[in-house]
Amino acid sequence: MNTTSFLFGLFKSQLFVRLPYPTSDFSGQIVIITGSNTGLGLEAARHIVRLGAARVILAVRTISKGETAARDILQTTYAKKNIIEVWPLDLSNYESVKAFGARVQALDRLDAFIQNAGILTSHYTSAEDNEAHITVNVISAVLAGLLALPKLKETSRKFGVKARLAFVGSDLHYIAKFKEAETSGSLLDALSRKEGVNMGDRYSVSKLLLIYTVRELAARSPIDADSNVVIDCLTPGACKSDIFRDEQGWFAAVIQSVMISLVARTTEVGSRALVHGVKPDIEDGAHGAFLMDCKIASNGPNVDSPRGRALQKRWIQEFLMKLETISPGVTKVLL
Ligand SMILES: NC(=O)c1ccc[n+]([C@@H]2O[C@H](COP(=O)([O-])OP(=O)(O)OC[C@H]3O[C@@H](n4cnc5c(N)ncnc54)[C@H](OP(=O)(O)O)[C@@H]3O)[C@@H](O)[C@H]2O)c1
Repeated sequence: MNTTSFLFGLFKSQLFVRLPYPTSDFSGQIVIITGSNTGLGLEAARHIVRLGAARVILAVRTISKGETAARDILQTTYAKKNIIEVWPLDLSNYESVKAFGARVQALDRLDAFIQNAGILTSHYTSAEDNEAHITVNVISAVLAGLLALPKLKETSRKFGVKARLAFVGSDLHYIAKFKEAETSGSLLDALSRKEGVNMGDRYSVSKLLLIYTVRELAARSPIDADSNVVIDCLTPGACKSDIFRDEQGWFAAVIQSVMISLVARTTEVGSRALVHGVKPDIEDGAHGAFLMDCKIASNGPNVDSPRGRALQKRWIQEFLMKLETISPGVTKVLL
């Protein structure tokens, strides 16, 4: 998609679409939201507590921040104290993700999981064995989701509900250039290289890899009697949050002060898209889909083109093997 079409779509969505206020009933349900101490995750957690969930787990990298968020949610929703739990999860550390996954397995049920935590920065930093966007926004994000999937499937069977696994992506995947894919070797190796990296494209690439992965997870985990789990990828649109916290340069200043203040949604409004992506009555058609403005949206030419389809195939072969090296057996839940 060219930048003009992207910007036209973005402004249309931001200026003319009103995201529906969440009203679905979450009674009796257990929901996990990662990165829920602030921003979109916090507001999604607040909605889900308000909508009657039995237990909402805030999975955060700093427990004290999670506890502050929990107090804030309790004060504004008047919910009972024991409804909210705070669990540690650091997506820049695979051991932390695996420990989180083990804890998920011990739950009685898990109805919905929102993988929301993510980063955006123009500085190259490493986390585990790759560049931080790739580790946090893609590898660990998917690892956490896959570790939760068996519990979601079990819940759907045991309690006769539709379970939901949502990944927070971004419409910026529409304009990812993904030059790293022009090499013939390993994509993960190409993405880990600091030399020649285009950090201006890296966040968009991470969200493109996420949508490739969500499509594959959905295809390899079809909705049937054994597994009534909807897996989707959604965008909240441009929102005023802490996402630019690492950005102090002129580019960030322009984006934040002009673009964001003119068209951005509040995190409360953006969070409605997160809640929509895991609402108990979400349509089966959302399985494997990209959701924008709380509707199934086009995947864009980076996905629905011969190049996109070939890249998705190439990516998933390498990525599933990578996940197996980090957590042996984790992909067994897939076909
Ligand atoms: N804001 C937008 O315009 C926009 C648009 C499209 C998509 N999104 C996506 O929406 C999601 C939430 O973003 P936001 O706008 O709410 O940003 P935010 O305010 O910066 O919140 C990001 C959350 O992710 C957590 N996080 C970051 N790195 C982590 C790690 N290594 N391990 C665990 N948690 C980590 C943060 O924790 P700390 O507070 O401890 O750092 C924070 O809770 C992200 O996936 C983002 O890509 C945002």
